[in-house]
Amino acid sequence: MPLDVYLLPAWTNPADLTNRVVVVIDLLRATTTITQALAAGACEVIPCLEVAEAQTLADQWRKEPSCGGVVLGGERGGQRIPGFDLGNSPAEYTAESVGGKTVIFTTTNGTRAMQLCRQARRVLLGSFNSFSALVAELQGERDLALLCAGTAGLVTAEDVYFAGALVDAFLANGLGVPQNDEAVLARVAWRGLAGRETAERLASHLHDSRGGRNLAQLGMQDDILWAARIDTIDVVAELHPRDWRIRLIP
Ligand code: MLT
Repeated sequence: MPLDVYLLPAWTNPADLTNRVVVVIDLLRATTTITQALAAGACEVIPCLEVAEAQTLADQWRKEPSCGGVVLGGERGGQRIPGFDLGNSPAEYTAESVGGKTVIFTTTNGTRAMQLCRQARRVLLGSFNSFSALVAELQGERDLALLCAGTAGLVTAEDVYFAGALVDAFLANGLGVPQNDEAVLARVAWRGLAGRETAERLASHLHDSRGGRNLAQLGMQDDILWAARIDTIDVVAELHPRDWRIRLIP
């Protein structure tokens, strides 16, 4: 299978992703947190670009509730947005807080990267928590693009490591052939991490990245460790470009 990695949204465009299977990667934290929200029982997540758009949508949803209620979640500057129910920490998304509800969600980089995927054939979300389930889901797919969200318009190492881990898994299973040099570089970056097998060691590498340093400055180190736990979730989140909802793959 041809396999491209895009290290930043700005280094690709919707035409590059048209009719392809895209994995959006914002490991710290949007795609980790959305996967957690769905695993905790949220019935769907609706990604929004802007705060005002999310608020307007939530107001509409409250008038005509579906799925047992609405939760507004997301961040700006890493912090919960004033008036929102939840921030962007995966630990906040529990059965109690989001079970059976629609989550309307906006983040600085992750939900922005998703906007490029409107013409994709399929859009899956990347998370180490659901790594093996994602690899299994992608078996048999052809023509894959891994899209890193980056941080504030800059490449961020944690997304690159995750993309490299996926490239590595595909090569190990004879499933993929890297097409672009970013795919080669991402794999080299991932394989260069010493002791990546334990969550604590992987977390220390994630900590030493642009996104990780930002979270550490905010005192959110626990989120880094959460994102470093491999295969704690056996389900995969999929964004459906037509109705713009993220749901678990049944
Ligand atoms: C984002 O989408 O920009 C990130 O998830 C930021 C964050 O971790 O708060």
